[in-house]
Amino acid sequence: MSLPTETKQYILANKPTDLPSLSGPSPTFSLETTPLPPLNDDQVLVQTHYISNDPAQRGWISKYADPKRLYVPPVPQGAVMRSRNVCEVLDSKTPRFSKGDIVLGNPGWTEYAVVDASTLQKAEKVPGLSETQFLGALGLTGITAYYGLTEIAKAGPEDAVVVSGAAGATGSMVVQIAKHILGCKRVIGMAGEEGKCRWVESLGADVCLNYKDEAFKERLKKETEDFVEVYFDNVGGEILDLMLTRMKRHGRVAACGAITQYNKSKQDGIKNWFQVISMRLEIRGFIVFDYMDKAQQAVGTLVKAFKEGKIRLGDENETIVDTKFEDVPGTWMKLFEGGNTGKLVTKLV
Ligand SMILES: NC(=O)c1ccc[n+]([C@@H]2O[C@H](COP(=O)([O-])OP(=O)(O)OC[C@H]3O[C@@H](n4cnc5c(N)ncnc54)[C@H](OP(=O)(O)O)[C@@H]3O)[C@@H](O)[C@H]2O)c1
Repeated sequence: MSLPTETKQYILANKPTDLPSLSGPSPTFSLETTPLPPLNDDQVLVQTHYISNDPAQRGWISKYADPKRLYVPPVPQGAVMRSRNVCEVLDSKTPRFSKGDIVLGNPGWTEYAVVDASTLQKAEKVPGLSETQFLGALGLTGITAYYGLTEIAKAGPEDAVVVSGAAGATGSMVVQIAKHILGCKRVIGMAGEEGKCRWVESLGADVCLNYKDEAFKERLKKETEDFVEVYFDNVGGEILDLMLTRMKRHGRVAACGAITQYNKSKQDGIKNWFQVISMRLEIRGFIVFDYMDKAQQAVGTLVKAFKEGKIRLGDENETIVDTKFEDVPGTWMKLFEGGNTGKLVTKLV
């Protein structure tokens, strides 16, 4: 088969202020076909097979993002939308990679790309697991869950842990790590559907509450009647506000994400701030990139726990969506509609 000379790509056309728009007069992304540059020394030509979908990508394209207040440079208007991908090497001008290698890299929403070999890592092989796990449970979201619990919340056997977004990529790993690796005494999840809640319980949560249910607040109050030591916050907004009233004295909040706010032009406020003072709470934000120097340690622990049967990884903790390249933005948007259980992965077909 001859090598491709051009590629389809999604370009950031208009920075969104609220929900990204996939059509209409001011679409967030535009589909373009671009010639591929020639391959230089130390470069490889890759083909994207899988794309990681991350709520964080919404922050990188926000009209309101102040580069001085962001942890990575924003995606510039007119640039290819940034993403982490699993790719196959089609051609190589480096001894590090050969044709056919499966690699992890950040070429973005593109079918093909010519990239520097230094930006790629070979996908490890774990028997019984697909390489897509390195986009989720054994990649950034698993590492986020691990260090969010161990370094930020400092969770252990004495602690009851509540986690929001519990059926998502990060949350489902928080549940499993808290229960089966750290031995936390009680784990309470929150998710947006009954079916998701039952899955979270099957992973080890003592209970998982549907935050869309009318009785949610009452049930949360009951399930946390002795209050909790740790809250792992993936959502921010009203649920974070509510959780401030359910924390024990000296409780710790790991501020991981605020997906309820990402598509809002005006952020919700916190009404229960005095709880932080009266209960001497510790709220600590973190970004997984701060822990990349010890990422392998976390991945090693998770792989070991998987091999020992302590945690469950596999098809059930991924939602892999077969996607034509044209529909790549639509699959990403499923994150904001609760369209995933475990890690949302785009499979290009
Ligand atoms: N600090 C870090 O370094 C770091 C690293 C990775 C991720 N994060 C953060 O962690 C959170 C989870 O990320 P993820 O990659 O694991 O995604 P994810 O949880 O797999 O997917 C997003 C999930 O969020 C829930 N959701 C969407 N809109 C919501 C809303 N308005 N209110 C409440 N829940 C909503 C949906 O589940 P339901 O059906 O349950 O609503 C959806 O399935 C995000 O806030 C992300 O930014 C932070």
